Amino acid sequence: MGIPAEAEAPAALKSSDFISKLTRALFGIAAGIALVYVISERRKYAAPAVMQRCDHLSPITAAELQARQTSLARVLSQLNASAYISEPGASSLYYGNISTSNWRLSERPLLLMITPQQNGDEIEAKVSILTPAFEASRAKMLPIASNDVTFIEWAEETNPYEHAMTILSDTPGSVYVDGATRNFIVDGLRDAHPQAAVSSAPYEIRRLRERKSPVEIELLKCANEATVLAIRAVREKLHFGTRESTASAMMRAALASAGLRDGGCLTLFGENAALPHGSGTDRTLGKHDFALFDCTASLHGYRSDVTRTVALAKSEIPEEHIQIWRDVRAAQNAAISTAYAGVIAAEVDKAARSSLDNSKYFTHRLGHGIGLEVHEAPYLNGGSKSVLETGHAFSDEPGIYIEGKVGVRLEDCFYISETGSPVFLTAGIGGQAKSPWSP
Ligand SMILES: *[C@@H]1O[C@H](CO)[C@@H](O)[C@H](O)[C@H]1NC(C)=O
Ligand SMILES: *[C@@H]1O[C@H](CO)[C@@H](O)[C@H](O)[C@H]1NC(C)=O
Repeated sequence: MGIPAEAEAPAALKSSDFISKLTRALFGIAAGIALVYVISERRKYAAPAVMQRCDHLSPITAAELQARQTSLARVLSQLNASAYISEPGASSLYYGNISTSNWRLSERPLLLMITPQQNGDEIEAKVSILTPAFEASRAKMLPIASNDVTFIEWAEETNPYEHAMTILSDTPGSVYVDGATRNFIVDGLRDAHPQAAVSSAPYEIRRLRERKSPVEIELLKCANEATVLAIRAVREKLHFGTRESTASAMMRAALASAGLRDGGCLTLFGENAALPHGSGTDRTLGKHDFALFDCTASLHGYRSDVTRTVALAKSEIPEEHIQIWRDVRAAQNAAISTAYAGVIAAEVDKAARSSLDNSKYFTHRLGHGIGLEVHEAPYLNGGSKSVLETGHAFSDEPGIYIEGKVGVRLEDCFYISETGSPVFLTAGIGGQAKSPWSP
């Protein structure tokens, strides 16, 4: 009252200046505390048994990447096809070491293009990259493992697909695109060269990536073993009252301490585990509850996928729930004992299902292929006519889900060995869980 307006303004200015400084200081302190918290959580939940477990394994070498390009070129030639085209993704990572982390997808196409070339009696792979012209320097920094890459640049005012199709002759054979290629790119390629039949890569091509090499199997084994060891280590540190969110943070830290990347787990306690992909609540662990961890992480791009349904030393699990655990374990065995080279995928799914008296509670497919993607073809489901081949790797993950009560899932991945028989990727550290107390 009675204070002139002019007199008020500077004070208000000063106080808002003070508040903004204070806010900045508080933000700084909060960020500091958060950082210290993250580092200390990492330390607290680091799992010494898992530490640096896979450090001895190297990423895929240039020689292996080039061998993949040559195999692809040979198959293209056998199919009388002119080219294989992939956007950044799992297939471009497989053939050209280009992932979506070193080239994010945008509306401007960047394409890996491989064409077969006759050199005497040999078929060689010619590798080309279609790149936006203004991004050409960055494209040339991509870690493509080829000695001789042709960069085809498209300027903003031109049609990128017409540039892409310059790799083809006037009378081209089929052009196969990776199945994950976005529609507008497929359409663009079709319109740019109507004589070339553009379609998704057939099985002869897809199986090159589906069947893992010995080096890939070693990476998958280590990633999956370290993931199991991380779950075992975290289980030791759980207690009644731990929240799902805390246990999930513990798992992330344990996976990171193993040297794995992008690790995380679906973490579900008690009846929450009856919803296979989670409930959205943050429950605490009780004496009568199972804890379900469904974890994935990556090692040089290769993924793990492991599920354990565990109990603590002092848990008092109802006998009925322990029986469900045993049934799921038996279903896991029933599945793998049928999974030989030459068998139809649907049969493996059926074996798990028919081993269960209460299979109506086993509501999802048995498993999926695994490699550079957590879920990839081929799949183990009741409708799959895929034939198991040596080098294929799959998850074996039956589950029983009784809503409002209990959920149990057990998951180990396996591969079809050179002899045609299935081997768990986790065999090196004891393989499957033996009981809820011995995961
Ligand atoms: C593949 O790319 C990664 C980085 O994304 C790099 O560390 C690695 O050396 C590359 N491999 C080859 C063989 O160039
Ligand atoms: C490829 O072309 C050759 C020669 O024209 C033909 O004999 C062969 O059947 C063709 N292969 C395919 C898969 O179309």
